[in-house]
Amino acid sequence: MKTTDKTILITGGTSGLGLGLALRFQAAGNRVIVAGRRRNLLDQIVRDNPGIEAIALDVADPSSILRAREIVEERFPDVDVLINMAGIMQPEDLHSDGFLATAEATVTTNLLGTIRMVAAFTEFLQAKNEAVIMNVSSGLAFVPLAATPTYDATKSAVHGFTEALRVQLADTSVEVLELIPPAVATTLMGQDQHEGGNAMPVDEYLDEVMSILGTRPDEKQVMVERVKMLRYAEVDGTYDEILAMLAGAGH
Ligand SMILES: NC(=O)c1ccc[n+]([C@@H]2O[C@H](COP(=O)([O-])OP(=O)(O)OC[C@H]3O[C@@H](n4cnc5c(N)ncnc54)[C@H](OP(=O)(O)O)[C@@H]3O)[C@@H](O)[C@H]2O)c1
Repeated sequence: MKTTDKTILITGGTSGLGLGLALRFQAAGNRVIVAGRRRNLLDQIVRDNPGIEAIALDVADPSSILRAREIVEERFPDVDVLINMAGIMQPEDLHSDGFLATAEATVTTNLLGTIRMVAAFTEFLQAKNEAVIMNVSSGLAFVPLAATPTYDATKSAVHGFTEALRVQLADTSVEVLELIPPAVATTLMGQDQHEGGNAMPVDEYLDEVMSILGTRPDEKQVMVERVKMLRYAEVDGTYDEILAMLAGAGH
């Protein structure tokens, strides 16, 4: 994708990778609109970063998505990049009563949220000369973490959905990308609290992502070196070993 002079809407833009990417895209010469549920953070981000705009959005709520599209059409009609970064990751213990509620919330946010955003914005984006939809999966789409079965499943589904979407939109102006992060030290599931853990520092991850986007503009699956052991585990013949390693990782 082209990384300058775009107008970028990022869901999940209030923290972690979404906010980090938003600030880097702004610094690189793009207009950026962050979206998320936490209005206090949206207000603070707008205050602290002149030029950044914000929209309140709950991707688990279809009416909120439609409202967000109306706001974009009215206030930010130049949006030509949609990054579906919003996501949740919570421990899922199949033996506990809370399992199903967590599983359903995870599907609603990570998978249905992404699909509903794509459904709401694709026609709008197709009217642009060079538009981009970037969906966010995970290395865990390719080798699951035993502690988060539904999370893993939603990310595998986002991968498959994104692959198929790219084919369906191949004859339009919309480029379809997938961002495949490894473990990165955000607050998503407390990765930032594991000192000495194997999560990649946020800045290091974002530096590598921006470098890939800047130097390999035709890349469809955006992956840093660190995630390739998961992405290609099956091809490399290391799947069982990595599955067992993740199961023992104490997450
Ligand atoms: N960090 C990792 O290790 C890692 C690895 C692979 C993939 N990822 C993916 O990267 C994405 C960003 O995660 P992160 O690590 O940056 O975690 P994070 O800091 O917890 O960010 C998650 C973001 O999603 C937003 N969000 C959650 N539910 C939402 C909803 N219903 N509607 C709108 N926004 C919602 C949150 O904003 P509000 O709470 O303000 O709504 C927040 O901005 C996620 O999709 C995650 O699965 C992360």
